[in-house]
Amino acid sequence: MQLTHYFLLPVLLATASAQTVYLIRHGEKPANGSTGLSAQGVERAQCLRNVFGNSSQYNIGYIIAEKPKSDGHRDRPLLTVQPLATDLGLTVDTSCDRDDQDCVAKLVKTYDKGNPTQNVLICWEHGQLTKIVEALGDKNAPTYPDDSFNLIWTDPQPYDNITSTQSEECPGLDN
Ligand SMILES: *[C@@H]1O[C@H](CO)[C@@H](O)[C@H](O)[C@H]1NC(C)=O
Ligand SMILES: *[C@@H]1O[C@H](CO)[C@@H](O)[C@H](O)[C@H]1NC(C)=O
Ligand SMILES: *[C@@H]1O[C@H](CO)[C@@H](O)[C@H](O)[C@H]1NC(C)=O
Repeated sequence: MQLTHYFLLPVLLATASAQTVYLIRHGEKPANGSTGLSAQGVERAQCLRNVFGNSSQYNIGYIIAEKPKSDGHRDRPLLTVQPLATDLGLTVDTSCDRDDQDCVAKLVKTYDKGNPTQNVLICWEHGQLTKIVEALGDKNAPTYPDDSFNLIWTDPQPYDNITSTQSEECPGLDN
């Protein structure tokens, strides 16, 4: 028993210092089908400032969101993380198109090469989140439920398994 602990401890410490990717869906959509966030979505974006902010445990150093179209479509992921990014002093990387999961995986791997001490947050259209997780190296990526907006997927290095799915726990917005 004791011996096992001695062997496990360095492994656990190494795991804890490894980099983690967190994946979230954009905030709620307006019922009228327009671009942008609904009132609830705006509330969620504000809530995420607390969830992932400087005083949280997430230690976010890099945020990636899908590239908005020039006509305003696909702007929800960026709008969802922009208030948080401003707090953290980060510029959201929107260089990857919605359907280009390989581009996202490449950004993460490039970030890793700098031996970062901080973690990555990815905000995207929910169907595509599965493909991003697959592109990062998970052969059993989960499906994000159509009717949820509140889930955080935790994908630690080497990105081959979502080890936890939990709620952002934004007051009044849990579903
Ligand atoms: C659609 O809903 C959004 C959010 O509730 C609102 O800001 C926008 O003005 C609405 N657009 C139209 C065309 O009604
Ligand atoms: C959060 O930390 C970043 C980096 O240290 C800093 O630039 C930013 O001002 C901080 N934001 C808040 C709200 O403390
Ligand atoms: C993935 O993580 C979950 C939750 O921690 C765990 O139950 C499962 O065994 C893991 N799967 C693999 C293939 O590591």
